[in-house]
Amino acid sequence: MKKQIAALLLAALPLFGFAAGGAYPLDSVKIDLTDKAALQDGAQTFVNYCMGCHGAKFQRYERVANDLGISEELMMDNLVLTGAKYGDHMKSSMRESDGKAWFGAAAPDLTNVARVRGTDWLYTYLRTFYEDPSRPYGVNNKVFDSVGMPNVLVGLQGRQIIGCKQVQIEENGKKVFDPLTGTPVTQEACDQLTVVPNTGKLSEVEFDEKIKNLVTFLEYSANPVKLKSQRIGMYVLLFLAIFFVFAYLLKREYWKDVH
Ligand code: HEC
Repeated sequence: MKKQIAALLLAALPLFGFAAGGAYPLDSVKIDLTDKAALQDGAQTFVNYCMGCHGAKFQRYERVANDLGISEELMMDNLVLTGAKYGDHMKSSMRESDGKAWFGAAAPDLTNVARVRGTDWLYTYLRTFYEDPSRPYGVNNKVFDSVGMPNVLVGLQGRQIIGCKQVQIEENGKKVFDPLTGTPVTQEACDQLTVVPNTGKLSEVEFDEKIKNLVTFLEYSANPVKLKSQRIGMYVLLFLAIFFVFAYLLKREYWKDVH
């Protein structure tokens, strides 16, 4: 019995690991894999801002172009920046050992990262880099403490710092509004992420959208057949439903004279 309990606890260990790392509340994001425009924008951000260090080596350019509705010419001109061929895997130009030497950690392949980390984690991670002079590259991250990755999106988002700002009060997980005017009730809170105004190309809303699109691309990349398998699942259910009707009619026919 004791052995079984020990085995159970061991099996549950990874759960505790995640719980410990997840102290910062994750922002949730709704991903729509059928949104082609979002996928295309995400792919563009990925090749421009991520592939210098990360690859998606289980994915081919040609497959992405076909799935996302991008022509070969457009793909080669705008999305293949590493000198690769159309049919090649999406490999990064950086070697693993260089990553270790430069950033203290190798930049992992991102093909399946959405399956490992989840889309909410990615969406939060990519939006919560903040300035921290004690770190080698001057940045830290809210969901990945002491991260080795530099803040590559600072030009889009702007400089994010930890500071004080007005935040809406919450009671029992619900946001509080003034009962008379209907306006949000706020108070000053410190230890909050704040973007220094006019330091990035995009507004907060635009930046969130960009990241949502990027996460949509990563989710697609980890599940390129998800759309197709959903469709097949529907056909199977439909088939079973029709089959059931015939099976029932047949059963009635057979048993008609038995009673
Ligand atoms: C300059 C190199 C560099 C660039 C560019 C870069 N990263 Fe990273 N990234 C890293 C390194 C190094 C790590 C490993 C960090 C660690 O383990 O401390 C990392 C880690 C990550 C992780 C965490 C992986 C995990 O599960 O542990 C994700 C997700 C990620 N990067 C996404 C991105 C995305 C998306 C982009 C493009 C917007 C990007 N990175 C651009 C260097 C880079």
